[in-house]
Amino acid sequence: MRLLFLLLFSAVLAAAQTLRQDADRTGVFISAAVRPAQLSEVAYASTLAREFNTLEPENDLKWAALRPDEKTVDFTQADQAVGFARVHGMKVRGHTLVWGWWNPAWLTDHPFTPQQLSALLQEHIARVMTRYRGRIFAWDVLNEAIDERGHLRSPLWYDKPGIGLAGQSTAYIEQIFRWAHAADPDARLFYNDGGGETVNAKSDAMYAMVKDFRQRGVPIDGVGLQMHMIDDLNPDFAGIAANIARFTALGVQVHITELDVALPIRADGNVRDLAGRVRQAEIYRHIAEACFSHPGCTAIQTWGFTDKYSWVRSRTNGAKGAALLFDRNYAPKPAYQALKEALAIRGLKKTISPLIQNSSGTCTVILETPCK
Ligand code: G3I
Repeated sequence: MRLLFLLLFSAVLAAAQTLRQDADRTGVFISAAVRPAQLSEVAYASTLAREFNTLEPENDLKWAALRPDEKTVDFTQADQAVGFARVHGMKVRGHTLVWGWWNPAWLTDHPFTPQQLSALLQEHIARVMTRYRGRIFAWDVLNEAIDERGHLRSPLWYDKPGIGLAGQSTAYIEQIFRWAHAADPDARLFYNDGGGETVNAKSDAMYAMVKDFRQRGVPIDGVGLQMHMIDDLNPDFAGIAANIARFTALGVQVHITELDVALPIRADGNVRDLAGRVRQAEIYRHIAEACFSHPGCTAIQTWGFTDKYSWVRSRTNGAKGAALLFDRNYAPKPAYQALKEALAIRGLKKTISPLIQNSSGTCTVILETPCK
């Protein structure tokens, strides 16, 4: 049986040509955050369209990008990304309708009353979601509202001054999700955060909120686990898998939304230590496996796709980078191959599980997991 599996696995790897083909065959979203200004670069555009079945504008749907001043709503860049996806048959995730950061000064500095802020936010959500109805299938409705201790942060939307629900815990978040659902009932609505990838105080608070929302019928469909690996090359893979398991058990989907694995780099942007690339590939592989071992984990999105364009270098003052699947010349890295192999294994499990299910219902010989 093991030989059969290996033969099939080799055949699948040989037959598959791109990550996108693997993803389509397996029925998962393989996505990348994109910068519309780079879409005119042939290598950027062709790699994106060839290798990914989904994209997400990295910054262009945030308040500061869409609404630079009080009178302007500028969809130019976001439209470009969404248009590119349509031409290339890709899906689009939206990021993000509400965030405590990267808001324009006219919004944060103006002494709005809660009533005014509430009207403004509801109008914003309705306007943006209506524009992209049917074209953006999933939204990070709210980004990074919970701190590392599991307490609610204090952004303008909550209590500075808030939309009228200050001091009432997650009531303001519930309101925001209800507005989003009213604006586009078909969109999948996600809460997105970083630092709660494994089981810890932050993810406990996220879990409690999502569980409460599900029990009370508040429209939430998913949780985005960002998965930026900037300072940690020894992630707690078992904890990540357990966390994904508990969220999906609530009936929501999990998307890995901002995966990157930063390595120390030289001044020219290249990695210092080639062994780092191997470690990086293993991290991509383990995270993909943690996701793919739960049917409810349906997307892996990397935060960019070429090392040429990534937020990591500026975030680390040039000390780290090279965090993505393709190098600065668009050549695939070991991490790319690792993700491809994880996808191939998931595809193969899906294909052969029905064929090898034994009488006890357990695929012990090859998969060592219950047949589904
Ligand atoms: O648009 C201006 C441009 O006009 C100006 O010339 C240039 C000069 O620096 O700055 C440009 O704005 C930058 C913007 O990215 C667009 O490139 C901002 O300075 C910069 O702060 C901004 O950073 C982004 C950050 O979110 C804030 O929006 C990063 O690219 C983006 O990767 C990062 O993404 C966040 C996710 O949304 C949420 N999770 C964490 C993740 C990393 O911080």
